[in-house]
Amino acid sequence: MSFEVADTLDMSTPDAKRASYELLVAQVRSVLEGERDWIANLSQFSALVHQSVPDLNWAGFYLARGEELVVGPFQGKVACVRIPFSKGVCGACARSREIQLVEDVHAFPGHIACDSASNSELVLPVVVGDRLVAVFDLDSPLTARFDAEDARGFAEAVAALAAGTDWP
Ligand code: SME
Repeated sequence: MSFEVADTLDMSTPDAKRASYELLVAQVRSVLEGERDWIANLSQFSALVHQSVPDLNWAGFYLARGEELVVGPFQGKVACVRIPFSKGVCGACARSREIQLVEDVHAFPGHIACDSASNSELVLPVVVGDRLVAVFDLDSPLTARFDAEDARGFAEAVAALAAGTDWP
């Protein structure tokens, strides 16, 4: 890989954040180039996000298995293994297939506290064709860490991952 991964993306202003997400999406494409294996790509994607996006304590995948989510490649502390579609922020994302942006997880009914350091959360569906294959979950120790620009940026990054990966 002839590509340097930026260690911390600057997200201190709206303009910097926009530029940082453009760079993140370019880095996703570059890191995944030439590889379509899903375990390799989900692992690299989680590592890239955790390494370069500031103020995260957990970043990774829950894989859709029937009506349940099972933890997949991630970076962060050991997490809950299985989450039914009926539970938590990840379950809400899997059920609705809509991005869940939660400014204060303690105010979200049914939130599952895997890491007590988490205060806000962003969860994105990974949909391939008409199939929900996974959700991508991001946790932050900061309250209201994520906004619409983060959701838009990660949606683009996840779309690049989904298109560049062969799913089982
Ligand atoms: N908080 C999530 C559970 C997964 S952990 O944050 C890694 C939820 O409520 O679905």
